[in-house]
Amino acid sequence: MKKMTSDELRESYLKFFESKGHKIIPSASLIPENDPSVLFTTAGMHPLVPYLLGQKHPAGRRLCDVQKCVRTGDIDEVGDATHLTFFEMLGNWSLGDYFKEESIGFSFEFLTKVLEIPVEKIAVTVFAGDEDCPRDTFAADVWEKHGIPKERIFYLPKANNWWYAGPTGPCGSDTEIFIDTGKKPCCPNCSPADDCGKWVEIWNNVFMEFNRTADGKFEPLKQKNVDTGMGLERTVCMINGLSSAYDTDLFAGAIAKISELSGKKYGEDEETTRAIRIIADHIRTATFMIGDERGVVPSNVDQGYVLRRLIRRAVRFARQIGCDPARLVDIAKIYIEQYKKIYPELGVNSGRIVDELAKEEERFSKTLENGLKEIEKVLKYVQGDTLNGKTAFRLYDTYGFPIEMTVEICREKWYGVDMDGYKKAFEEHQQKSHAGAEQKFKGGLADSSEMTTYLHTATHILLATLKKVLGREDIQQKGSNITPERLRFDFNFERPLTDEEKKAVEDGVNDAIKRDLPVTCEEMTVEEARRQNAVGVFGSRYGEIVKVYTIGDVDKEICGGPHAEHTGQLGKFRIVKEQSSSAGIRRIKAVLEPSA
Ligand code: ALA
Repeated sequence: MKKMTSDELRESYLKFFESKGHKIIPSASLIPENDPSVLFTTAGMHPLVPYLLGQKHPAGRRLCDVQKCVRTGDIDEVGDATHLTFFEMLGNWSLGDYFKEESIGFSFEFLTKVLEIPVEKIAVTVFAGDEDCPRDTFAADVWEKHGIPKERIFYLPKANNWWYAGPTGPCGSDTEIFIDTGKKPCCPNCSPADDCGKWVEIWNNVFMEFNRTADGKFEPLKQKNVDTGMGLERTVCMINGLSSAYDTDLFAGAIAKISELSGKKYGEDEETTRAIRIIADHIRTATFMIGDERGVVPSNVDQGYVLRRLIRRAVRFARQIGCDPARLVDIAKIYIEQYKKIYPELGVNSGRIVDELAKEEERFSKTLENGLKEIEKVLKYVQGDTLNGKTAFRLYDTYGFPIEMTVEICREKWYGVDMDGYKKAFEEHQQKSHAGAEQKFKGGLADSSEMTTYLHTATHILLATLKKVLGREDIQQKGSNITPERLRFDFNFERPLTDEEKKAVEDGVNDAIKRDLPVTCEEMTVEEARRQNAVGVFGSRYGEIVKVYTIGDVDKEICGGPHAEHTGQLGKFRIVKEQSSSAGIRRIKAVLEPSA
């Protein structure tokens, strides 16, 4: 096998497929656009769904790329030799162009000629067939023609050899490519379906020819596509004869830094190694999430919650091995330097990455110690072997312990957690705070339609943009009135806005809309809101718990909501009128129109 660095593998993969007529396309954002069914991009094909369904791709019918991906389903397994929450997927696509024969041919050539993997080390699986799709003897024959012997071609059912993009959408049977690690077979019929460690999957070629409908039927697609995905980390690991992705050049810098900060050696003992891997993995993923072109910030919902869990878990394991959690930013900086050549957004957003990590670490570290003491205390008095749900909820609500962390800490001490009780306590709390928000909504806004919600979000963006365009931090909201047709917003300013200024404000707001920023909500004390420079702190009482809405990197404001979920929902912002309201107060009327 040819030893290669990760940089060399990315480069040779793209060069190879370019030589086969593929256009190189850039990695899409980690946060899927227009796809509420998944929180993160989990495969290279996600951003390509419309093209797999038949839409014409501007770059043509043969594409390849390196896609950043996040999969957090196995977060608890991170720490062993193979599991990662972030990875890069090398992929090539045929959008209604070539199909099985060429696809297998390309893969075989790349593996044996470029990576110089001996044919004897390769094993493959193909689809065994069922009522939806016949047995794939065609793919098996192609493999055999290339020299893969029958005994290393395994027929497996849908559970193994079928790829779904989601509950509905393009899908199809696949052929998966494995490297034989040379370990002893686990049984006489040992196959890649056995999870015994003998076989490591490095590449999956999906033959996407079906659309799965909402009622579970498989309808033929307009075109037959190929979608492949090769794991960069795993492949680098395999071709360099390593036993763990963490031993590759991708983690070398980060692991050295964690060792330096903690004074512990990677490989010293199992527990230390696990902790170092968890920190290295979670901080890498957090760096990519915050630094993404559609960057996420820690919060209690959706992507923000996953990010929060990752950072908090990294903090906990850092403490466990004696690494000052405030220094976790140093590890992020290593990743930024390492990856910014390939993912320039990390360089562009480096300030935000470091800031958000530091803020979340501080927020959590402050309460962590008290929370850990509290857990110790409650576990002492717990009846039986299960922590009750109310207490688990209190740990979340008061100490910011994600429930998964409480479960993990309890598990380490051989206790369970009453999850049903936790969910009940959580829902009760949600209902209470929703009732509060609705009250406020009724008071401050004219109508509860979707449109007023969007105009409300537009108002926040408008205030932030006015400050920026007019260069005045002291501008404040002096009045707001929203109907389903328009917003009306009063603010302190002494003179009429020039046409240029009005245009710049419109452009600024529309830019925030176009960037489709996430709108997230978090509950915190007024003191915390002040520390985070949230707008609107002044009207709130000391010690009060308030809701803070964050609109991407544009605005952070105390507010009862409700708001749009993401700014892309807003349409196009237009100022209709700018006039005087009273001495020193200007008034803007503006509308949201469907975007072209
Ligand atoms: N989309 C396929 C996968 O992720 C290639 O395995």
